[in-house]
Amino acid sequence: MNYSLYAGGKRLRPLLVFAACDAVGGKLDDAMPVAAALEMIHTYSLIHDDLPAMDNDDLRRGRPTCHKAFDDATAILAGDAMNTFAFQAVLEGVADPAKAVAAARELAVGAGIDGMVGGQMADLESEGAAPDIARLRYIHEHKTGALITAAVVCGAIVGGANAATQARLRAYGRQIGLAFQVVDDILDETATAEQLGKSPGKDRDADKMTYPRVMGRDKAKAHAQELVAGAIAEIKDLPDPQALMAIADYFVARTH
Ligand code: IPE
Ligand code: IPE
Ligand code: MG
Ligand code: MG
Ligand code: MG
Repeated sequence: MNYSLYAGGKRLRPLLVFAACDAVGGKLDDAMPVAAALEMIHTYSLIHDDLPAMDNDDLRRGRPTCHKAFDDATAILAGDAMNTFAFQAVLEGVADPAKAVAAARELAVGAGIDGMVGGQMADLESEGAAPDIARLRYIHEHKTGALITAAVVCGAIVGGANAATQARLRAYGRQIGLAFQVVDDILDETATAEQLGKSPGKDRDADKMTYPRVMGRDKAKAHAQELVAGAIAEIKDLPDPQALMAIADYFVARTH
């Protein structure tokens, strides 16, 4: 668990938790357990995503993948343990019980069958399938967008946002979440292993359905930019939206 969690990574989901909490006037200390939980669930999803039965990758966050450094059983169990430890962290660490329950529920939905896991299954089932933009959108909104959305909404929950503000932040999260995976697909084609800390070119090798393959690289990039503009429009009138706006811009501008 420590090997993969402390390998680095961009820590974008915790950053989103803090930025959303801050944008609604919450205290950052209150967001820490939820931020840690998001990074644990995300890291578990990467450990399992890299297993031979899934994407079969050898490099992650600039190091050998968890199953390469240890073995498949250890990687499966490290992932399982981080998944459950994330919920423990929220339920033990968030002081207000109503906020703890709301954040845990948000996380469960974002990580589970109606979120990340559902998207991962659809991703695997769609290897080699005929291009289908609706299906592709489903995959990306679920395997990646759902957890990014949960990060934003959990930050809003612990920050004490009302229902209307939570809805705006959810709309922001959904758009940047999809944009993030569109850009991940582009970088798989254009970036180096040194930049990414993971092996590029794997999507084509596995015949994955991706945005650059379905609509071309330029249109995919333009689509990601439109999504980010839409996301910023949702939150620009919040009391303190600067960090969320900067993160949204970074989601399309990033090179790793
Ligand atoms: C990689 O996520 C997997 C996707 C959901 C695209 P990140 O690009 O956020 O990976 P780390 O956390 O920085 O390693
Ligand atoms: C993975 O998507 C999304 C997860 C839920 C882990 P990818 O398979 O494209 O992620 P990378 O490129 O291996 O990081
Ligand atoms: Mg994958
Ligand atoms: Mg992968
Ligand atoms: Mg990828």
